[in-house]
Amino acid sequence: MAGLKNYYHLYVIFFLCITTNCGMARRSSSQAVKGAYWPTWASYFPPSAIDTKLFTHLYYAFLVPSNVTYRFEVSSATAPLLLNFTSTIHNKNPPAKTLFSVGGGGEGPDIFSRMASSSSTRKSFIDSSIEVARTYGFDGVDLDWEFPRDAKDMENLGILLQEWRAAVQKDAKLTGRSPLLLTAATYFSVEFFLGPVIRTFPVASISENLDWVNAMCYDYHGSWDTSATGAHAALFDPKSNISTSYGLQSWINAGLPRNKLVMGLPLYGRTWKLKDPKVNGIGAPSVGLGPGNRGAMTYSQVENFNGENNATVVFDMETVSTYSYAGTSWIGYDDVRSTTVKIGYAQALGIRGYFFWQVAGDKAGKISRQASRSWIL
Ligand SMILES: *[C@@H]1O[C@H](CO)[C@@H](O)[C@H](O)[C@H]1NC(C)=O
Ligand SMILES: *[C@@H]1O[C@H](CO)[C@@H](O)[C@H](O)[C@H]1NC(C)=O
Ligand SMILES: *[C@@H]1O[C@H](CO)[C@@H](O)[C@H](O)[C@H]1NC(C)=O
Ligand SMILES: *[C@@H]1O[C@H](CO)[C@@H](O)[C@H](O)[C@H]1NC(C)=O
Repeated sequence: MAGLKNYYHLYVIFFLCITTNCGMARRSSSQAVKGAYWPTWASYFPPSAIDTKLFTHLYYAFLVPSNVTYRFEVSSATAPLLLNFTSTIHNKNPPAKTLFSVGGGGEGPDIFSRMASSSSTRKSFIDSSIEVARTYGFDGVDLDWEFPRDAKDMENLGILLQEWRAAVQKDAKLTGRSPLLLTAATYFSVEFFLGPVIRTFPVASISENLDWVNAMCYDYHGSWDTSATGAHAALFDPKSNISTSYGLQSWINAGLPRNKLVMGLPLYGRTWKLKDPKVNGIGAPSVGLGPGNRGAMTYSQVENFNGENNATVVFDMETVSTYSYAGTSWIGYDDVRSTTVKIGYAQALGIRGYFFWQVAGDKAGKISRQASRSWIL
């Protein structure tokens, strides 16, 4: 029986695949997205190190507008980095598309909340974003507002996207160039169902005005809960709705067209310190953070740690995730195997593609290469 249970999810994927024809019909009209964010602090992995055979879209992370004017005041130190990013990626063989991402988890929601709340500040932001994209040679802009806090913010986000799309169309007409791409990084689920303020993304406006959504399907567990280990990017969670399968389905159920949905994949792990080294599964009692920077490690660091510490590596079929442990150190992450199963799931759902946070976490390109190979065109 245990064996049967373990393979249950693979049957689900296979079944989805037959019943949806693996999404082939739906996908044929739009090019697959194989995205990745490049954070500017990853100086050890410059844009020139990115293998563009593995990616269709690369995101410069991040730019933040002025919190007074809501315009991008690009400094003389930043301008060459922007130009270097776009020219490096565009000159590669093959070239990939470039977008710059606005905000990021470190920025917080306030600036966006204020910017989106009035038409004059929205216009300053929108016009400036288009100007920056055109000046520095980007193919598009990505909004990473983490996160709209209430229903009013969500409504204003919907209006912002509508006005942004109109401005992008106008710019395309005026310049005779292809319209800039517009995307957004969002919560893994269409609805914030956990906190005290339940709110839902404006799906109608998103469907109409964005090229696609990057659903951030990770950080389900982490340093904010040190009482137990967790699979921070689990595909399935038998006990809760905090999982990638639930998140992706929620967007589809809310009416987002499948070809506008892109699944997030982490190139990092989250770590805990086990209470008892002998109790070391997912959900095992823990007493604090494990190794790494505030309980996080890039995939490359996890690989090194596992090797140096002779860690035991376990692929968990039930959640579709990987974890490793050595002594009291415990790391939950995705490896080549869990990533491959997730990609099978995403294709069975018929969604547009996947993206990674973040490209420098996989220095040797092991996961990126396998992901690109497993996404069947
Ligand atoms: C804008 O940013 C500056 C510098 O970080 C900060 O001192 C100021 O309080 C911010 N203004 C608002 C309105 O948040
Ligand atoms: C980008 O910067 C790197 C290192 O700073 C440099 O080697 C490279 O030539 C630059 N590339 C372009 C296209 O500007
Ligand atoms: C998961 O969400 C569904 C609705 O989408 C709800 O009916 C169900 O009770 C939730 N399950 C858990 C364990 O919270
Ligand atoms: C590594 O761990 C395995 C068990 O997981 C053990 O059999 C082996 O002897 C260990 N190797 C070293 C070098 O400690």
